[in-house]
Amino acid sequence: MSNNLLKGKKGIIFGALNDQSIAWKVAEKCFEEGAQLVLSNAPIALRMGEINKLSEACANAPVIGADVTNMDDLKNLFDKAIEHFGGKIDFILHSVGMSMNMRKNNSYTSLNYDFTHKTLDISAMSFHRILQLAYQMDAINEWGSVLALTYIAAQRVFPDYNEMADAKALLESITRSFGYQYGIKRKVRINTVSQSPTRTTAGSGVKGFDGFMNYAEKMSPLGNASAEDCANYCVTLFSDYTRMVTMQNLFHDGGFSFSGVTGPVIEQMEK
Ligand SMILES: NC(=O)c1ccc[n+]([C@@H]2O[C@H](COP(=O)([O-])OP(=O)(O)OC[C@H]3O[C@@H](n4cnc5c(N)ncnc54)[C@H](O)[C@@H]3O)[C@@H](O)[C@H]2O)c1
Repeated sequence: MSNNLLKGKKGIIFGALNDQSIAWKVAEKCFEEGAQLVLSNAPIALRMGEINKLSEACANAPVIGADVTNMDDLKNLFDKAIEHFGGKIDFILHSVGMSMNMRKNNSYTSLNYDFTHKTLDISAMSFHRILQLAYQMDAINEWGSVLALTYIAAQRVFPDYNEMADAKALLESITRSFGYQYGIKRKVRINTVSQSPTRTTAGSGVKGFDGFMNYAEKMSPLGNASAEDCANYCVTLFSDYTRMVTMQNLFHDGGFSFSGVTGPVIEQMEK
């Protein structure tokens, strides 16, 4: 069911890899709510071809490759998106993350720093790159909305989340700092959504992911939020109903973040 919450709005969605990706669900929901889209992912991810299915489902939304660590790629993406839309952008989703240390099973106490640089660049500094480019090009309409996806390991220790915890802390800090600057300049709002563990390609890369998900499910009064739930929340944050929300880290986790302990966890511990 559509409420046309994003009718007439134009947005760029970064990070739809396959139909499990959170960005994929967000793109589907935004389209359903009346938005026009441009889809982007790293050139290497586009070679899989999956994203073309999403494009077809979204009225042949253009797919434009951009490595988020490459300013020329990003500039090309913004130029083409503005040309395609015939004007400025109303919303952006940054749904991008990658850790080579996690892929190579390097623990937090034995990081390879070349990999760490890459992690911080792809997963956090890229958000600054996107915002700085948009700011300098004046590419976002007044009252536009920019979101990035994050995880509660930025605030609390989840040992197997490894260096991504540091990347998410930086991502959330950039959100506040740039939210201030862009709010003053163009009334553009910038927030992060802190999502429950979700079964996706990036999510499943976290060591012990099944245990992690089950624990979060038991620790959340509403249970884990799904990717579809996350997409619905993102739609509201791109809509005009949340115009005064900015510089926030918004927990979207079924109550996990504020639960000390729950009945199901106590039961489990008493076994
Ligand atoms: N899955 C979870 O449990 C969970 C929970 C909270 C937050 N998040 C965050 O949600 C976001 C999306 O992840 P997801 O779980 O949907 O997984 P996903 O693997 O579907 O998405 C990650 C995306 O990042 C893209 N990417 C990686 N390197 C890139 C680069 N250099 N340039 C451009 N794109 C690049 C990948 O191609 C992929 O599309 C990430 O920021 C992730 O940290 C995920």
